[in-house]
Amino acid sequence: MLKTTSVAFLSVLAPICAAAVYDANTDALPLSTLHDYVIVGGGVAGSVLANRLTEDANVSVLLLEAGPFHKGVIETEVPFYFWLGIPSTYQWNYTTVPQSSANNRIIDYPRGHILGGSSAINGLVYDRAASSDFDKLANMTGDSGWGWDSMLSYYEKLETFGPPADGHNITGQFDPAVHGFSGPLGVSLPGYSQTLDALVLESLNNSTYPYNEDSNNGDELGFAWQVSTIHNGTRTTAATAYLADNYLARPNLDVVVNAFVTRVLASNGSDIDTVEFHAVDNTTNVNAQASREVIMSAGSVNTPHILLNSGIGDNATLSAMNITPVHHLPSVGQNMSDTTVIYVSWEVSSNDTFDPILNNETARAEAFAQWNATRTGRMANGAINLQGLLRMNESDPSVQSIYQQYGESVAGSSDPDFEMLFIDGFTGTSNGTYMSMLFGVLSPMSRGSITLNASDPMGPPLIDPNYFASEYDVLVMRQALLTGFEFLSTGPWPSYLGQPVNGLAEVIDAVGTGDFTAMDELMRNGVQNGAHLVATSSMSPYGADWGVVDPDLRVKGLNGLRVVDASVYPFVPGGATQLPTYCLAERASDVIKASQ
Ligand SMILES: Cc1cc2nc3c(=O)[nH]c(=O)nc-3n(C[C@H](O)[C@H](O)[C@H](O)COP(=O)(O)OP(=O)(O)OC[C@H]3O[C@@H](n4cnc5c(N)ncnc54)[C@H](O)[C@@H]3O)c2cc1C
Ligand SMILES: *[C@@H]1O[C@H](CO)[C@@H](O)[C@H](O)[C@H]1NC(C)=O
Ligand SMILES: *[C@@H]1O[C@H](CO)[C@@H](O)[C@H](O)[C@H]1NC(C)=O
Ligand SMILES: *[C@@H]1O[C@H](CO)[C@@H](O)[C@H](O)[C@H]1NC(C)=O
Ligand SMILES: *[C@@H]1O[C@H](CO)[C@@H](O)[C@H](O)[C@H]1NC(C)=O
Ligand SMILES: *[C@@H]1O[C@H](CO)[C@@H](O)[C@H](O)[C@H]1NC(C)=O
Ligand SMILES: *[C@@H]1O[C@H](CO)[C@@H](O)[C@H](O)[C@H]1NC(C)=O
Ligand SMILES: *[C@@H]1O[C@H](CO)[C@@H](O)[C@H](O)[C@H]1NC(C)=O
Ligand SMILES: *[C@@H]1O[C@H](CO)[C@@H](O)[C@H](O)[C@H]1NC(C)=O
Ligand SMILES: *[C@@H]1O[C@H](CO)[C@@H](O)[C@H](O)[C@H]1NC(C)=O
Ligand SMILES: *[C@@H]1O[C@H](CO)[C@@H](O)[C@H](O)[C@H]1NC(C)=O
Ligand SMILES: *[C@@H]1O[C@H](CO)[C@@H](O)[C@H](O)[C@H]1NC(C)=O
Ligand SMILES: *[C@@H]1O[C@H](CO)[C@@H](O)[C@H](O)[C@H]1NC(C)=O
Repeated sequence: MLKTTSVAFLSVLAPICAAAVYDANTDALPLSTLHDYVIVGGGVAGSVLANRLTEDANVSVLLLEAGPFHKGVIETEVPFYFWLGIPSTYQWNYTTVPQSSANNRIIDYPRGHILGGSSAINGLVYDRAASSDFDKLANMTGDSGWGWDSMLSYYEKLETFGPPADGHNITGQFDPAVHGFSGPLGVSLPGYSQTLDALVLESLNNSTYPYNEDSNNGDELGFAWQVSTIHNGTRTTAATAYLADNYLARPNLDVVVNAFVTRVLASNGSDIDTVEFHAVDNTTNVNAQASREVIMSAGSVNTPHILLNSGIGDNATLSAMNITPVHHLPSVGQNMSDTTVIYVSWEVSSNDTFDPILNNETARAEAFAQWNATRTGRMANGAINLQGLLRMNESDPSVQSIYQQYGESVAGSSDPDFEMLFIDGFTGTSNGTYMSMLFGVLSPMSRGSITLNASDPMGPPLIDPNYFASEYDVLVMRQALLTGFEFLSTGPWPSYLGQPVNGLAEVIDAVGTGDFTAMDELMRNGVQNGAHLVATSSMSPYGADWGVVDPDLRVKGLNGLRVVDASVYPFVPGGATQLPTYCLAERASDVIKASQ
């Protein structure tokens, strides 16, 4: 999915012109100034915080980001580059450890390494999750501020719901009553009409599957038009939105790029007040001091990595690695959860798919020229135009036995168990034209971990999402595939779809025999990174003997240190994680301001 395809142009990094942005490799840094807050990581959460906290001219912020400045990186501007492949220069290049329940496969595990973080390389999919996810979080933490009614107001505050790239009439494709029209983050509905879209809608018309006018109103169930983080045909990221020039111009905000944070420290022996880092090109460490707080926003992989290297984690494990324990907190890096996804594909009878852009240089150059001139066409489109978020069929005895054995994993009794996304081409290398489907278990029960590599603790951590470790995830994925096959067996599909590819035919042939051997093999050989990892610095109630942060996001038992990023969600909010992370950081900004 993230292969890199050569293109007819090179991206050139624009010089950093805004006064408040420093390059740690080359510039003298503003470290003699004591900042109120030092934020680690300029991704989704870090960018939101840097912006909101510096709204008060009396509050100063230093934002440290390991990756480069984002401006001029064309691959992060053209939405279609999600399928063409964002260059590894802007990624952490992580892989998982061998996945013991997925035939010991080592799976690529991309994360964004650029100002804007993973929002600069992600699938642009905008999903807010269900109201019940937030109400469950409020209940789990004992803080009603994490409930849906409160979070909805932040969702509305953070966005500008703009017109799609093709300007089509979007009445009936979303509900304006639950959206915002003046926030920093530009978002929109699909900006290019695919042949595929009409087929999905046609098959809905004649079925019992519900159409959902707006899957972001708290009720996610059904088929809906997919909103994407795209404005004017261009990808929007946490950096383009929250670190735009007018914000970077604030004298109380200093942003340093190419700054790799190694540890957080307590200079006086008690409160955390120091961030240790070095320039990417220079291994000598330097310190940045915070007069109020250090805030970890390095994401679900790197926040626990930095905490563990700082001696914040399980005492015995750290001691065994010759890291001096500073604060015993065994949940750091544990409980990791990620959506579990596979892709399957069929050849199609149409030649109107996105495949030519991937496989034919002329078609690619034409599509780019159109985007470059007018910000329209297939390259202005997001990854997905229509999504189905569905529940398992409760009248099916095998589904009833899943519920009997495992109970409900999703937050609410009418929340979707799985997702089914329609993709207008093949996601690997080939010459033909295809349709692909992404199937995902939205609320998996498998739990994994982020741990240090004993032979190189500062190097890449051991990433173990533990896909399919829980049989529940296998059983739900089976139901997702069976539902998908049934959906595609009638209506317009038999004449549109050709041969299934890569072993899928054998799986479909076995449906009805009760033998899931081929299907389970396809799942274990096919599971990809779900990219929605959470819970490695989980929130828990005040006083709980598990978890990493309190409901106000302060690290349990320490002063001066908070975590604000996707890692604090105790479970994957149904759908995708970027919008829940933007929203989390918006509320966290208010929680921090209120504590000043
Ligand atoms: C390939 C991919 C596809 C995805 N697709 C979608 C999607 O379609 N829809 C969706 O909702 N979500 C998607 N996601 C998930 C979404 O992007 C993340 O949930 C979201 O970005 C999390 O925000 P964050 O602030 O926690 O972390 P990030 O946005 O990843 O930000 C963390 C930042 O910290 C920096 N950092 C890390 N370590 C250090 C260090 N040691 N020193 C200094 N800086 C550091 C990183 O470089 C990065 O900029 C996808 C993610 C990926 C990787
Ligand atoms: C900043 O702080 C000073 C001194 O405490 C105060 O006089 C001033 O009003 C504050 N300014 C803002 C914008 O809050
Ligand atoms: C990922 O790999 C690319 C290509 O080798 C490299 O430029 C980039 O710096 C790597 N990322 C990190 C964080 O090391
Ligand atoms: C959470 O929900 C349960 C069951 O509805 C209820 O008994 C409990 O009081 C709730 N806890 C909080 C903190 O709201
Ligand atoms: C968009 O479509 C709706 C419903 O079909 C219609 O009422 C409205 O007038 C249309 N708007 C424009 C600008 O055409
Ligand atoms: C959209 O992009 C085009 C092409 O770069 C530009 O001319 C236009 O001003 C942009 N419109 C908005 C509303 O940003
Ligand atoms: C490396 O960083 C240290 C600390 O900032 C600095 O003293 C030194 O001059 C730097 N070395 C080079 C080669 O830039
Ligand atoms: C963990 O280690 C720290 C630092 O050595 C020590 O103060 C603390 O008592 C230890 N806690 C436990 C539970 O072992
Ligand atoms: C696509 O198919 C149509 C109709 O079958 C045909 O006219 C057209 O030439 C084809 N285009 C390409 C690029 O193959
Ligand atoms: C490649 O795309 C161009 C432009 O759409 C088209 O004219 C050409 O026939 C395509 N080549 C092949 C081999 O399909
Ligand atoms: C894209 O458009 C700009 C002008 O807006 C032009 O300078 C540039 O050369 C174009 N790039 C390509 C690859 O066509
Ligand atoms: C695509 O077609 C080219 C030229 O016909 C051939 O060399 C290549 O192997 C094909 N690639 C795939 C993945 O089928
Ligand atoms: C609609 O459903 C009926 C009955 O199931 C079926 O005969 C017909 O082919 C379907 N038509 C379409 C367009 O899906």
